[in-house]
Amino acid sequence: MSENDNDFVMAFQDSCDKPALLLIHGFPLSSSMWTPQIEDLGDYARVIAPDLRGFGNTDSVPGPYSITQLADDCADLLGHLNVATPFVVCGLSMGGYIALEFYRRYPEHVSGLILAATRAGADSPEGKAGRDKAAELAKNEGATAVSAGMLPKMMAAKTYENDPELVGFAQEIMSSASLNGVVGALAAMRDRIDSTPTLGDIDVPVLIIHGADDTLIPPTEAEAMHKAIPNSELVLVPDAGHLPNLEQPDIFNDAVIDFLEDLFGDVDEE
Ligand code: MLT
Repeated sequence: MSENDNDFVMAFQDSCDKPALLLIHGFPLSSSMWTPQIEDLGDYARVIAPDLRGFGNTDSVPGPYSITQLADDCADLLGHLNVATPFVVCGLSMGGYIALEFYRRYPEHVSGLILAATRAGADSPEGKAGRDKAAELAKNEGATAVSAGMLPKMMAAKTYENDPELVGFAQEIMSSASLNGVVGALAAMRDRIDSTPTLGDIDVPVLIIHGADDTLIPPTEAEAMHKAIPNSELVLVPDAGHLPNLEQPDIFNDAVIDFLEDLFGDVDEE
């Protein structure tokens, strides 16, 4: 647990003293969504996976939140931990929106970016209206009403068929989100800026990982980012929807390890 400058206690998971890898979770999840990465990437990186405000074990801070604030919460945490910079910032979906903002605000701290199951664009007017509707639903019927509506869209059809245990795990994480977290993060996503103009200016290596069967954010969004980011690589993960790191952890982790080794050399050597 770490006391931060905003007067709330922020929980996080950490591993060892290799080059740092910050893992920023999606909505409405928590650092637990990174369990296969925390388990397998510790030999390659110091893995730091915060629970964003309102999620997991971090305090249920009242909203509205902003993507900038969420990026700054992560920066405060890494500062507090005295993490040697620069490090790799990886974000999935909403975590990707935060990773791009983190890069805009602290480019000197970032040696590489991993953008998973995310997009660069802002919400359309319909998308913004959808956020407000979801926030109303959460206020009227509880945060789990939002996660229950999202669960059937989070993974590939094959995952629902073949891996009920994984679906249960995702459901457990999603249903632990607080009302403040859900409402606050919906406002942050609704009001986020368009990151498309940033893409051409990114001057660190970028790994884009996307589930081939993602219906929440279609793979065309990943392809568009790949075209716009000069030094980028795209890995399309077969038989994965919006949670490729959980649905196909070996493919996801191998791509991350290759990326880390390209950046830092053979990081697994003692
Ligand atoms: C997420 O997984 O973080 C969200 O689905 C992203 C979004 O709703 O834009």
